[in-house]
Amino acid sequence: MKIKIIGAVLMVFTFNQSLLAMDMGMMQEDDNRQSLGIKGTMQGTHQLSNMREHLIALSEIVQLMNTAKYDEASKIASEKLGLTLEKNTMCGSFNNKSFEEMGVRFHKSADDLAQTLKTKDQKKSMVALEKVLNGCVLCHSTFKQ
Ligand code: HEC
Repeated sequence: MKIKIIGAVLMVFTFNQSLLAMDMGMMQEDDNRQSLGIKGTMQGTHQLSNMREHLIALSEIVQLMNTAKYDEASKIASEKLGLTLEKNTMCGSFNNKSFEEMGVRFHKSADDLAQTLKTKDQKKSMVALEKVLNGCVLCHSTFKQ
């Protein structure tokens, strides 16, 4: 009986320790991201609002793909996520070459997605969408405001 209790206590203790380690791991990862130095600035607010629009665009694209409205999905990919002069300027406005390159590459992958969607090929479109999503993930794990 006593041994069982000690066993249970030990298990809880080890579990907590590993949770703590996980927490620290995450914090570490957070600290390792490069800061753009725009937290709390107007530029930062603007960036976050753009980002929320990116997420809305993705959601719309997936929804349209699921109802086989490929041309509409293509239009959104191109207009909301594709590379425009405005987006090019925006990506370059953070004084960070690597951020700029990542951003431009991401917008280009959205243009590829727009082209692929026009073929109405679901499989190819999903692969192109995966590349776009990888662009979101890569930048978010590299940079913070
Ligand atoms: C080139 C870089 C880059 C790319 C590409 C990128 N983001 Fe972001 N995003 C950021 C940065 C930087 C932040 C701020 C994160 C922080 O400070 O923790 C952010 C924040 C966000 C937020 C939080 C918004 C808020 O109101 O807090 C969302 C949502 C988001 N991004 C969605 C996306 C989506 C979806 C994509 C891809 C379709 C994407 N982003 C692509 C750089 C990028």
